[in-house]
Amino acid sequence: MWRPIVPLIFFFAGASAGIPKLDKNLAFRSPFFDEPQVGPSFAHDTAAISRRNTQPTRRDTVDAAQFKDEPYPGFFTSDFSNAISIWSSGVNFTHSGRAFLQLNSEFEGDPFDTTIILWTRAEPLPTNAGQLPDQSVPVCVSFKIGTTRDLGNPVDSGEAFTTYDVDFTVKVEVTGLKPDTMYFFQFADCTNPTVVSPVGTTRTVASVDTPAEHVNGGKPLTLAVFSCSQFQTGWFNAYGFAAHNTTADIFVHLGDYVNIKSLSSLPCIGRAVLGRELATIQDYRQRLGQYRSDPDLQFAHQSAPWITVWWDDHEVANNGWKAGSSDSNDTTAGCTFSPSGACFTDRKFAGVRAYHEWMPIRQVDAGDQFRIWRNFQIGKLLLTPVSVVVSLADEPRRSLMGSNQEKCAFLPILSHSKVYKLIYLGLMDTLDQSKSRGAVWRVVGCVTSSSRDAWDGYRANRNRVLDHLYNNHIDNTVILAGDSHANWVSDLARAIGVEFAGTGTTSTPDFFSQTDFNQAVNTSSIFVKDNVDLQWSEGFFRGFFTLSLTPTSLNATYYSMRNVTFRNSDGFAIASFLVNAGDNHLARPVAGGHVLSGALKSQVVN
Ligand SMILES: *[C@@H]1O[C@H](CO)[C@@H](O)[C@H](O)[C@H]1NC(C)=O
Ligand SMILES: *[C@@H]1O[C@H](CO)[C@@H](O)[C@H](O)[C@H]1NC(C)=O
Ligand SMILES: *[C@@H]1O[C@H](CO)[C@@H](O)[C@H](O)[C@H]1NC(C)=O
Ligand SMILES: *[C@@H]1O[C@H](CO)[C@@H](O)[C@H](O)[C@H]1NC(C)=O
Ligand SMILES: *[C@@H]1O[C@H](CO)[C@@H](O)[C@H](O)[C@H]1NC(C)=O
Ligand SMILES: *[C@@H]1O[C@H](CO)[C@@H](O)[C@H](O)[C@H]1NC(C)=O
Repeated sequence: MWRPIVPLIFFFAGASAGIPKLDKNLAFRSPFFDEPQVGPSFAHDTAAISRRNTQPTRRDTVDAAQFKDEPYPGFFTSDFSNAISIWSSGVNFTHSGRAFLQLNSEFEGDPFDTTIILWTRAEPLPTNAGQLPDQSVPVCVSFKIGTTRDLGNPVDSGEAFTTYDVDFTVKVEVTGLKPDTMYFFQFADCTNPTVVSPVGTTRTVASVDTPAEHVNGGKPLTLAVFSCSQFQTGWFNAYGFAAHNTTADIFVHLGDYVNIKSLSSLPCIGRAVLGRELATIQDYRQRLGQYRSDPDLQFAHQSAPWITVWWDDHEVANNGWKAGSSDSNDTTAGCTFSPSGACFTDRKFAGVRAYHEWMPIRQVDAGDQFRIWRNFQIGKLLLTPVSVVVSLADEPRRSLMGSNQEKCAFLPILSHSKVYKLIYLGLMDTLDQSKSRGAVWRVVGCVTSSSRDAWDGYRANRNRVLDHLYNNHIDNTVILAGDSHANWVSDLARAIGVEFAGTGTTSTPDFFSQTDFNQAVNTSSIFVKDNVDLQWSEGFFRGFFTLSLTPTSLNATYYSMRNVTFRNSDGFAIASFLVNAGDNHLARPVAGGHVLSGALKSQVVN
């Protein structure tokens, strides 16, 4: 029975505010823009959530006869027939400082220069009596973004609802921004504007037609590139170091931002993951939330916009393939054998949905299920088709390509022993277009699958992309790769560009000693001797690399973290590589002839 106590807890947000404010939160559309109901676990019918929410107040307009046992509450005789109640006992921006965001991204490359996705999470705080809202009561947050830290004159602002349906995550798109401009943003509790998230910093990128020399106000544009993070294997010092000690403008994560496995921690690390190997939506949410509790990761998200490429396999299930993974398949036996008891398709849906709730990435079109293929055109300096790589759709050709992509053919470049990673020829289209648009550098962020197969398997697959680039005279290509947990730098075959592959932030490689520095160097020597294009190999340290681009040259600097078994900011540059625009190979001597770890080809006696 509805009781007058309710208005003490709830706050009425005004007639018909429900659906627009629910829809403003893109998390309700996870992961699809247009077909929220696709699939058993995807779903947010915001109209239904709104109805659920307004039901108690709608009793105001029904015949009071049935409530004879008590006076019918009239609320000052107002008509609240369409009013919506919201939580007014406080919210906690649990990962807020932390409110972070990502550049807008569109398949067609339009405009990342005027909109941004902001993210936060607003959990309701209990009332003094310890009461939390029931499912029908949303939390309301306001947001604003502007060019000054005090946000006195916001460029865009608004309100959005969140509910338990999306784990109280909030994702809003802010618009009307200026290209290549620094912005500040903040969230607040709608019912108590003094409760705010810390002010975050972000930026837009240059618009597509900006001449290369004007991009980033004429300064080099620096990307910090990460891959492969495992909470229980190490502290995320690399994120903190990149945010504090480099001048990175944009953070790029190439995959395995979280890891589904629940292996026990290293003896000395002092932190372990919560929960089990991920299977249900709650499992995935808990894991994402736990990773995002790392202070260095939070700081990095607060400092700059991110581009995240997902996924490598570990965001959903270990070594996933299209209808299963190493420990759960869509067969009766597979589901039974799964330690979590979940069939693969359920895990896939749960993982995808939680990822879209917790990460500030743009929802995709339903016709492109599981496509996480986006591209970022940054003036005429740089095009980054953050390729990927669609591993998990059942019928790739049918379900991955909407009719507007039918012109694209599939190119399974990255598949080898595991036939699960596919990439659009659309990527190739984009590369072709970028040449005609006059972008200086083409930076392709790839999730690769080399780790378990080491260098050779990886190279064989990559060569299929290279064929296309070569045949179409597309040069100045820079391939970025992760996944292998080790550092590799190469000239691309046939002189069409270079490749920078980076180690994990914490995940360790199988094939380099992690205890004997000299032995790890020796292993690298063997790799560079045996692989004609490979110029540098390194596998002892964890870390990341930066890529600084100007119209005339590119500088890739690799950073190593000295010890990730405890939280610290002790990092150092171990190698720096220069590429002059138009050269399509690393400048000689490679790395200036000097690296602090690993092996350079020029130093290895053949
Ligand atoms: C808010 O959330 C943070 C992170 O989960 C937690 O440490 C803190 O105790 C919460 N604050 C309150 C008042 O519940
Ligand atoms: C990195 O920056 C932090 C914070 O400013 C500082 O304390 C630390 O000494 C720096 N580390 C290095 C290696 O410069
Ligand atoms: C799932 O199928 C894959 C491919 O056939 C197989 O390697 C794996 O062992 C299977 N897993 C289970 C738990 O049945
Ligand atoms: C590394 O290789 C050198 C030369 O082959 C050898 O003398 C040395 O023992 C090796 N060191 C280790 C730790 O494997
Ligand atoms: C590349 O950048 C690093 C880090 O900023 C710097 O130390 C190094 O000198 C640069 N190398 C070249 C050749 O400019
Ligand atoms: C890393 O730090 C831990 C804890 O202080 C220490 O036991 C370990 O030896 C260090 N590892 C290296 C490679 O220095």
